[in-house]
Amino acid sequence: MCGIVGCILKVGSVAPLIHDSLKRLEYRGYDSCGVATMDRGRIYMKKDSGSIDEVHARLNLDDLPGRIGVGHTRWATHGAPTQVNAHPHLDCKGRIAVVHNGIIENFAELRRELEEKGHRFASKTDTEVVAHLVEDYMAGGLGFVEACREAIKRLRGSYALAILCAGEERIVCARKESPLVLGVGADGMYFASDIPAFLPYTNRVVVMEDGELAVLTDSGYEIRRIDDWSLVSREPKLIDWSVDMAEKQGYPHFMLKEIHEQPRCLRDTLRLQPVYLDLMAKFLDRAQELFLVACGTSYHACLATSYLFSKLACRGSHPVIASEFIQNYGNTLGIGSTVLAVSQSGETADTLSAVSYAKDRAATILGITNVVGSTLTRLARVYVCQQSGPEIGVAATKTYTSQLSVLTQLAIKLGMLRGKIGHVEGEELHEWLWRIPDITAEILDSREKQVMELAKRYAGSDKFLFVGRGINYATAMEGRLKLLEIAYIPSLAYAGLEDHVFGFVDGGTIAVFICPNNNSRKVLIDEMNLLRDVGANIIALAEEGDVEVAEVADDVVWLPAMPLDLLTPIPYIVPLQLLAYYTSVERGLNPDRPRNLAKSVTVK
Ligand code: AGP
Repeated sequence: MCGIVGCILKVGSVAPLIHDSLKRLEYRGYDSCGVATMDRGRIYMKKDSGSIDEVHARLNLDDLPGRIGVGHTRWATHGAPTQVNAHPHLDCKGRIAVVHNGIIENFAELRRELEEKGHRFASKTDTEVVAHLVEDYMAGGLGFVEACREAIKRLRGSYALAILCAGEERIVCARKESPLVLGVGADGMYFASDIPAFLPYTNRVVVMEDGELAVLTDSGYEIRRIDDWSLVSREPKLIDWSVDMAEKQGYPHFMLKEIHEQPRCLRDTLRLQPVYLDLMAKFLDRAQELFLVACGTSYHACLATSYLFSKLACRGSHPVIASEFIQNYGNTLGIGSTVLAVSQSGETADTLSAVSYAKDRAATILGITNVVGSTLTRLARVYVCQQSGPEIGVAATKTYTSQLSVLTQLAIKLGMLRGKIGHVEGEELHEWLWRIPDITAEILDSREKQVMELAKRYAGSDKFLFVGRGINYATAMEGRLKLLEIAYIPSLAYAGLEDHVFGFVDGGTIAVFICPNNNSRKVLIDEMNLLRDVGANIIALAEEGDVEVAEVADDVVWLPAMPLDLLTPIPYIVPLQLLAYYTSVERGLNPDRPRNLAKSVTVK
């Protein structure tokens, strides 16, 4: 995955602005970066491998001349992260500059064809073919925009593209299956992979759709369908995310900032328009067969939701990891199937493949996502925005608890619709949901220091084991994912201890038990004892004052009493997010930038 951004200003120098915007896209990739500008009929370019700060320190990205430019921050997919493979990519004469996010599947055959015509390629990337294709069509007599359109028509795969041409006071952008948004500013026009990139400059946003090409000038934009060249009329929408929401606000890392944003995000999820949740509940009720499909953290939200649906609404469902969905259920899908897809980004390739496959077989598609205008929102019959605001940290934190909150509301609605929850009970559950933001704030206030100390003590451990039963099996899985993702400590998650686990455990093992006061508590305490006997250090998350847990665990993180087990996943995941965060920091790692991982996996 990569981030692209660019701008065409009415007056002034664009390079510092692109540099600044690129910084807000680093979560999309950070192995190399580059900027190209156009000034007085010439393209100027600087690019190199390394993070934006490193490249800027070496090259000074701010002194490129001109008021038109494009930038790119890369996460390599084709070609190693080297200077030559960094974007932008140029044509033979250095008159066309291209930045791209996505994968051009047929680049090898296009490259062969262009090389036979005499084009010389500098990089190993798929993207470079675009610059040469545009050059080729222009050499054949087409104007810049027409040449871009013809070039793009030749591409198979996914792309968010932006193209500059020497002597042209325009930027051409196009989108297929990779996110691309335009920003309409008073001082000029912007484009980016994601809104936070240009949010300090404008909050008037146009979301581009698949198959569209936009021509940006300093005073506006024109969008056309690439296939029939019809004009698309789309007005900008006002985005109410503040710039502050997209920046670190004094926290050392985005992840910690986002962990602390959870009380506010949870409140926002409770202000959702009920109409879409009601509609979604109706679709869930009538589904003959219901699949909850997602990847990673969003899958853990689905896993928890299957317990919520079952216990609150007597509604059976299959939580499925998106990459396995077609293999496992492809043959059984039909008009009676409903897929509730959960994806923070709305762009995860495996989730979208599963959804598209099911949609082609007449299944009903429902979506929960954080990104309005994402591909998932366009594929879904009904979607609900989870209201988390942008999440920059690669590790999902606030988006997970927001998903849980939305899905719990949905389960309550479904339970009421199906007559499994009475009105009074429904209202009580809602009241408790409204208390969870304050409970979360209290946990952050009162437990962060303790968890930081635990991380200090255990950061050198070489293995962790997370144990949680019932709905908190999802919490165990998510706690493990967080630790693996940002601290790289081998970890396992179990719903109940199986014999072979005892071979894994030794004196260096940290066993984390998610042990609220419910009907699994006794079994979990027994399992803590068994693990302690074989040398494990026990950390328990338990209800305030649980003496029996305190007797067996080495450390207890006390959490407030909840009236219902089904409401515990949100408060109980918070200490585990902090544990992963501080362990990563203790190990000298950057939790915002786990190695070999990008925020959103938009290619398979
Ligand atoms: C979570 O911390 C990870 N970054 C990752 O597993 C993520 O949850 C997964 O890729 C799904 O992303 P999505 O919600 O945007 O579809």
